Amino acid sequence: MIILKTVAFFDAKAYDRDSFSRFSDENISIRFFENKLNEDTVSMAACCDAVCAFVNDTINGEVIEKLSSYGVGVIAMRCAGYNNVDLKAAAGRIKVLRVPAYSPYAVAEHAMGLILTLNRKLHRAYIRTRDHNFSLEGLTGFDLKGKTVGIIGTGKIGRCFADVCKGFGMEIIGFDPYKSSEFCGKYVSLDGLLEKSDIISLHCPLTKENHHLINRETISKMKDGAYIINTSRGLLIDTAALTEGLKSGKIGAAGLDVYEEETALFFEDYSDEIIPDDTLSTIISMPNVIVTSHQAFLTREALDGIAGTTMENLRAYFAGDELKNEITL
Ligand code: NAI
Repeated sequence: MIILKTVAFFDAKAYDRDSFSRFSDENISIRFFENKLNEDTVSMAACCDAVCAFVNDTINGEVIEKLSSYGVGVIAMRCAGYNNVDLKAAAGRIKVLRVPAYSPYAVAEHAMGLILTLNRKLHRAYIRTRDHNFSLEGLTGFDLKGKTVGIIGTGKIGRCFADVCKGFGMEIIGFDPYKSSEFCGKYVSLDGLLEKSDIISLHCPLTKENHHLINRETISKMKDGAYIINTSRGLLIDTAALTEGLKSGKIGAAGLDVYEEETALFFEDYSDEIIPDDTLSTIISMPNVIVTSHQAFLTREALDGIAGTTMENLRAYFAGDELKNEITL
């Protein structure tokens, strides 16, 4: 007899319900909760066999302790990054699975979208013409062809982004402690990348070692007017240092899909409220900054990839099969 397994699905949005409904399994019942998983909401997973979580859920020692006491045996992350999971606390108690790859194109294309928008001021042009203001003052950009793009992290997304930049005729340089023969650019040191790049794009995971990789010191090594694009993780950038750089003109523009304090705000609608984050309010108000709400992954193809692999991970766990996508210490 097959026993129905129950999954507590946190931070659920309409697009999640939609994509997971296309990969449903008659032996797995999903309870969708809109709340993010944290110390206050973890009790919603009581009586469930598994938890499905996302990038802004808090999966610390306390949450893992409670999940384990409820008998939850697995956390299926429906994302690639897992910096929000305390793997030490999980070790030996609860399995952690992830989706290592879904659509690197989705994130790479969004990074290029941010560059094109910032450089050609499309966000400002859109607002102007809607107000019947057809002036071109202040909208001058530069050709991407021949400019140097520096890619920090040349894994799946970084390589895909490099291929996109190649199509624009850009000079491509990269920094990664692990070099890939599939990277279409030239590897340089981190300092070399900072000094030479007109545009710097972050595509490395967040680790203890690279917390605030972009800080006052690294910004001081950059070209005057360099663009910074971050579609990776917010904590890679010291936002106070970035704000100073933008104010002084050292940084020419910033495209941020992620933000170091995003957990409390991103994915939710606060349009009727004054947000309690002055740093974010300041950078959002700058004409040469675009903030998107961790949406780089959000394409139909990526959502289907995420749902398909997450369900496959859960099926394998419940069937006692090999766990191809387990994260271990
Ligand atoms: P990946 O694992 O294929 O590649 C990451 C690369 O970064 C590896 O080659 C690794 O050696 C390199 N790396 C690690 N530490 C580094 C450092 N300090 N400096 C330079 N390179 C370093 O990962 P993938 O799939 O390319 O994803 C990259 C990151 O993108 C994820 O870790 C995640 O944080 C972010 N991401 C963001 C999404 C969004 O919607 N904004 C969606 C998916 C991923």
